[in-house]
Amino acid sequence: MNPALEGTRRKFLGTSAVAAGAAALPASISAQVEGNSTLKLALVGCGGRGSGAANQNLTTQGTKLVAMADVFEDRMNGALDSLTKRHADKVEVPDENKFIGFDAYLKAIEVADVVILATPPGFRPMMFKAAIDAGKHVFMEKPVCVDAAGYRMVMEAAKKADEKNLKVVVGLQRHYQKSYLETLDRVKNGMIGDIVSAQIYWNGGGVWVRDRQPDDTEMRYQCRNWYYFNWLCGDNICEQHIHNIDVANWFIGEAMGKDFAHPISAQGMGGREVRDGDPKYGQIFDHHFVEFRYENGVIVNSQCRHQRNTWSRVSEEIIGTNGRAEPGKITDRTGKKVMWRHRGRDDENHYQVEHNVLLEHIREDKPINNAYYGATSSMTSVFGRMCTYSGKNLKWDDAIKSEKSDFPDVLAWDAQPKVLPGPDGQYPVPVPGVTEVI
Ligand SMILES: NC(=O)c1ccc[n+]([C@@H]2O[C@H](COP(=O)([O-])OP(=O)(O)OC[C@H]3O[C@@H](n4cnc5c(N)ncnc54)[C@H](O)[C@@H]3O)[C@@H](O)[C@H]2O)c1
Repeated sequence: MNPALEGTRRKFLGTSAVAAGAAALPASISAQVEGNSTLKLALVGCGGRGSGAANQNLTTQGTKLVAMADVFEDRMNGALDSLTKRHADKVEVPDENKFIGFDAYLKAIEVADVVILATPPGFRPMMFKAAIDAGKHVFMEKPVCVDAAGYRMVMEAAKKADEKNLKVVVGLQRHYQKSYLETLDRVKNGMIGDIVSAQIYWNGGGVWVRDRQPDDTEMRYQCRNWYYFNWLCGDNICEQHIHNIDVANWFIGEAMGKDFAHPISAQGMGGREVRDGDPKYGQIFDHHFVEFRYENGVIVNSQCRHQRNTWSRVSEEIIGTNGRAEPGKITDRTGKKVMWRHRGRDDENHYQVEHNVLLEHIREDKPINNAYYGATSSMTSVFGRMCTYSGKNLKWDDAIKSEKSDFPDVLAWDAQPKVLPGPDGQYPVPVPGVTEVI
């Protein structure tokens, strides 16, 4: 359980009448929906991905958007406009169901059957826990946590979801992508022999930066420019590279006869070269390299980078004794002889498939709960970050017990985040050999 998140949530409950109402909901209330009745959807986090996920959810027949929650009104209005244009007949969000503020998620969850959680990932554990406590089905974006305390909270809520027969899909969409599924089938059938290692990459030029506004408090600024603060984002290794780390966990786990695996130890290096000297980049690194070791001896070399004009690649190569697998392609060990290829021109959009699958499982009351692998892959990314920040060789079992969390004690625009700029305006950037992570 994350004491910081718990403390924060308790503070909402003490100060907000509506939130207190949400807390009073009986834990047994479940959103079981039978037959063809329309499912009520709430969108929590109305940014780019939240709007996309809501669009996909509404595209699958049988849902209606009834509530929205965000901390910024402009983001909510933008999402509402675009969703209304696409799905006029499926968007019915009365003014009283447009919730703004840090406790908005509790109010939106209350009126829905299905909840999309697409805020910055630092908020995910407490929001997932709240949705499951309230008995709601969940689609949540990756990563599902940015520290070990959040990992433990999501794992605990995942068990509760099973107990309550709630359905959970996580936006690690490669699990719903035909090119990956077809490749996995061939790997499981022995086409590349035994897996010995993997190379995984999210190397690119970086993402958006949101400028400080004149009326921004520090909390408001960090929440808008969230990519660059670890309590919100978890660094690039969590926010983007998780997709590739998750594929490694998934394929290695399947080869071991399990749904997913996780490394048992790791070490790595990383730092900040092109971002030096600019506080708008907060505290995150611009490159990480991690060597993850699994219990069956497989080694995964993971790299992610945010540096323009450098080699870019977003993919995975799973190396076996007889060949190597990439998404939709299997070659010999040299990579020269193609043994199989999936062109995938007619494959359904995997972002859409995620929602089709979630809603089908709700309607047909079939079990689905991606939260376990979602949390494990999120924690593997956190584990990698712990290695690059500390420069130490770490063990999984120690990492998942870590109590270190930068989540604020109080969530309010005038409250201070734990990570603050120094007198020179610079945020503290981790230093390998000095920074403690466990
Ligand atoms: N699966 C994918 O391929 C994919 C792609 C993009 C983003 N994502 C994930 O989706 C999530 C959102 O990313 P995005 O690109 O949409 O970011 P975004 O900044 O566009 O949207 C985030 C939204 O959450 C709102 N928000 C922030 N704090 C909140 C809070 N406490 N309560 C309610 N709302 C809050 C913001 O105001 C904003 O509208 C991230 O976890 C990201 O990793 C996944």
